[in-house]
Amino acid sequence: MAQPQPLTQPRDLPGPYGPPLIGHLLQLNSERSHLTLERWAERYGPLFQIRLGRSRLVVVSDHGTIQRILEQRPQSFRRNRVIEDRFTEIRINGLFTAEGEDWRQQRRTVVAALSRTRLANFFPKLKATTARLQRRWTAAADGNQPVDVCRDLTRFTVDVTMQLAFGVDPNTLETPGPVIQQHLEKIGPGLQRRFFTLFPYWRLVRLPPDRVLDHAVKVLEREVEAIVRATREHMAAHPHHEPTNFLEAMLVIAEREGSTLSSAELLAHTSQLLLAGEDTTSYTISWIIHYFTKFPEAFVRVRREVDELIAPAQTLDELQQANHLPFLDAFCNEVMRLKPVAPHMALETLEDTEILGCLVPRGTKLFVLLRHGATRKENFAGGDYFDPERWLPRPVGNEKQPHNTQAFAPFGAGPRICPGRNLAMLEIRAVLAMLCRNFDLEPVNPGREVEEKMAVVMRPDHVLLRLKRRSPHGGVPAEALTRGGVSVGRQP
Ligand code: HEM
Repeated sequence: MAQPQPLTQPRDLPGPYGPPLIGHLLQLNSERSHLTLERWAERYGPLFQIRLGRSRLVVVSDHGTIQRILEQRPQSFRRNRVIEDRFTEIRINGLFTAEGEDWRQQRRTVVAALSRTRLANFFPKLKATTARLQRRWTAAADGNQPVDVCRDLTRFTVDVTMQLAFGVDPNTLETPGPVIQQHLEKIGPGLQRRFFTLFPYWRLVRLPPDRVLDHAVKVLEREVEAIVRATREHMAAHPHHEPTNFLEAMLVIAEREGSTLSSAELLAHTSQLLLAGEDTTSYTISWIIHYFTKFPEAFVRVRREVDELIAPAQTLDELQQANHLPFLDAFCNEVMRLKPVAPHMALETLEDTEILGCLVPRGTKLFVLLRHGATRKENFAGGDYFDPERWLPRPVGNEKQPHNTQAFAPFGAGPRICPGRNLAMLEIRAVLAMLCRNFDLEPVNPGREVEEKMAVVMRPDHVLLRLKRRSPHGGVPAEALTRGGVSVGRQP
């Protein structure tokens, strides 16, 4: 009888060479850490080891194993403790970094706040906010001013998240001069630096980037504190008012007899929800718009689909319309497959666990590479080829092409899957439909490659466009129009 193979240990796994004391710190302490990990996965396979100082980490790139790991939360795996510590230090600690029973309770409140019913009631406000973005972009087009797409979209997502989750309207889209986003955008890079360090030096001495982070957090706290105060006053004045958003629901919990939720925790939860909802969505839309400029024929096809559905309206008019844009959805899926804002996730084992024949002890830190499986040709025909058609019903006879949606997890998976995904998809469709109906796109630096930058989430380093009021030809080179069909091409 064949003997069962003994399990290997993490130290026996393959992996890149790293110098004794620091290990792979220098390779990972950068905005390109995700690309380094993906390159190593190509070389060392589905399970390999790396070191950060004396700590040994395990990296998983096999999508089936990743799915199982994500599904076994919160019992067997948690988010990496370093992430929780770094967020806690800056007093931003909510659902994303919660664990165990605390996570379960918060999850219920957040899921209710972002439910389909809430989204349906919220749709008129989303429509009005999309119209504001349209006015902002029309003014830029008329003034021939370049548009920094990521920045404008972050104004949009902050306005949307605050209205839906906190019941206040900051209207940053129509506020001239400095707005809160200028500070929010400093938090991701500030935290990213701190994820990969051997010791927390900032507890002893603050370097300039730490002072930038401190200031950004202070501004966020001040803003959120004012919102919480106003909501508290409103609720005190209307004691029988049923909570209609996340913040009101949290205040009811905080004021319930026996609740242990302090004001500081309430502030921390609220701030984290705002952060979770803003740059993930704005960077995803920015990547999609960048791909519109790379694949103009596909943009024409999206535009045609939007025109047929909503013309003569300028934006989505009714919630139901958002579910009738199959080619736009295919385009978005394809961009999220190649440019997911979360290409990897940092986790930790909560018990001794077997992973692909290796006994991984409790407390081991893991990276799971979410994008790796989504770009391999055994899962998606053509691998990293950009081809939105693959997401549409396939012609008879073509069904055998690999199309493994299990390997596609831009919103994560399992019990901790992103609770904001329906809101995000609604925002994405609303903005893109408005863009298609109203504007032609002209990149400011057409030849310049757009690079991936990791700062907690993965963003494009620049998407600068000159928007033009829409012309009959749609701002697309004439030769692209005559070819017809949808182009495919290798990323990036
Ligand atoms: C395109 C936009 C978005 C993307 C790609 C995205 C992606 C993700 C991913 C990958 C996770 C981790 C899931 C996991 O651990 O399995 C996550 C978690 C989370 N997201 Fe999103 N997200 C987006 C938009 C939003 C929005 C709009 C909100 C809310 C306003 C939101 C709130 C959250 C929260 C609270 C968590 C933590 C969930 C938990 O740990 O239980 N996200 N998101």
